[in-house]
Amino acid sequence: MKIATHELRCTECGARIAGTAVNSIFRCPTCNGLYDVIYPWSTLPNGDTPASDSKLPNASALRWLWQERRTSSLAVDQSGVWRFRDLLPIVDDLDHVVTLREGNTPLYDLPRASKALGVDWILAKHQGMNPTGSFKDTGMTAALSVARERGFEWVACASTGNTSAAMAAYAARAGLRSIVFIPEGKIAWGKLSQSMDYGALTIQLRTDFDGCVRVLTDLVTRFPIYLLNSVNPYRLEGQKTPAFELVEQLEWQVPEHIIVPGGNLANGSALAKGFSEMHHLGLIPRIPRVSIIQAEGANPLFRSIAENNGQELIPVKANTRATAIRIGNPASWRKALRALRTTGGWCEQVSEQEIALAKAEIGAEGIGCEPASAVTLAGLKKLVAQGRIGREERVVLILTGHTLKDSAYTIDYHRGELFTDAENAQISLADQAAHAALRKPPIVLDPDTDTVFRALESQMKLVHA
Ligand code: F0G
Repeated sequence: MKIATHELRCTECGARIAGTAVNSIFRCPTCNGLYDVIYPWSTLPNGDTPASDSKLPNASALRWLWQERRTSSLAVDQSGVWRFRDLLPIVDDLDHVVTLREGNTPLYDLPRASKALGVDWILAKHQGMNPTGSFKDTGMTAALSVARERGFEWVACASTGNTSAAMAAYAARAGLRSIVFIPEGKIAWGKLSQSMDYGALTIQLRTDFDGCVRVLTDLVTRFPIYLLNSVNPYRLEGQKTPAFELVEQLEWQVPEHIIVPGGNLANGSALAKGFSEMHHLGLIPRIPRVSIIQAEGANPLFRSIAENNGQELIPVKANTRATAIRIGNPASWRKALRALRTTGGWCEQVSEQEIALAKAEIGAEGIGCEPASAVTLAGLKKLVAQGRIGREERVVLILTGHTLKDSAYTIDYHRGELFTDAENAQISLADQAAHAALRKPPIVLDPDTDTVFRALESQMKLVHA
């Protein structure tokens, strides 16, 4: 089956090239811009519709088809990415698709957060429920399928951990060799263990994520290695599909707000592209605001907007315990800025203490997530306090990674060992009380029933006090 009908368009100068003509670093040779994947039905750079409207896929037919595929036993139909393949025709032959049945992630309500914040409708789209435990799977299935179709033997990425886990798994499924570059000592063990388990060549560089990107970018210009970082626009075609899945789960209702964590700053723009395309095709009547939240210690986009209205990126030396988003010089910052501007979203920053509290709160709802994902709830609190999000508005937090990705963080938090004394001193009295109520350190006891009973009794008194 031949389905590929796409081109790449430079986001800076608008130059259009064939998908196969792109260079190894996925940058425009004229202006160094990144590319978007475009289709015959995509809007023009000025937002106009192409001359022939007949190329537009039919909205009701798509809704019906996507629903039908849910009952199919074909792998491409069971995938929560390829089920929507009509809007990502990027491979010629569906036999080249590499899938682990990604997507199909749950949408949970967060009743305690809703009550605490006075916002009626807070939902969490849990992308950590993907096969390798993060949202990266939705992008990896797309880009790795393209790598396979184009005949690459080797694929590589620089990563703070989740991209590498996803790439290693999908490469293994496809029988391709993969190379992972990670900053030594700065990624969570769960993620490191995954890339080894899936058989990647794992290289820990004595640098940070940004240093890993520099080395890899140089490497792929010299060797035939397919680059799978999020500068690869095919990744974002997969990462836009949770937008489709989300509104389908909401019976085609559109929430007012989507909140995502910001690291290398590709995911917010991928989701915004998904919403824009649905809007353009008449699948939804409007586009939600997509807001991006950064950790205070890794806040180049937030700073750039505050200091120069997003004219220039101000790179930072990144430092946060939310290691997934420990990125100081994000590649896709212009795409993120475009997503904020076209959807009317905001960029906020949150502190380490705010992230930890939000993570514990999401855990206490029986859901859990990794620290980077919790910036969404922490950011939502700020946006509500600023009056930017109202009580009756519907908010969806994109939880990007599973709680088991970084269990060391969670254990340190509950044992009260996460923060330095100086950091603890910065926590307000109200938040200290919230932390104290949420912390559940393990209790070590002798194996004696009376001792255990007494311990339980005192715990129950605490609960009922
Ligand atoms: N949340 C998690 C759990 C992540 O792993 C990442 C990025 C992000 C959010 C930010 O997404 O980069 O599109 O803004 N992780 C990358 C990696 C960088 O290598 O795994 P972004």
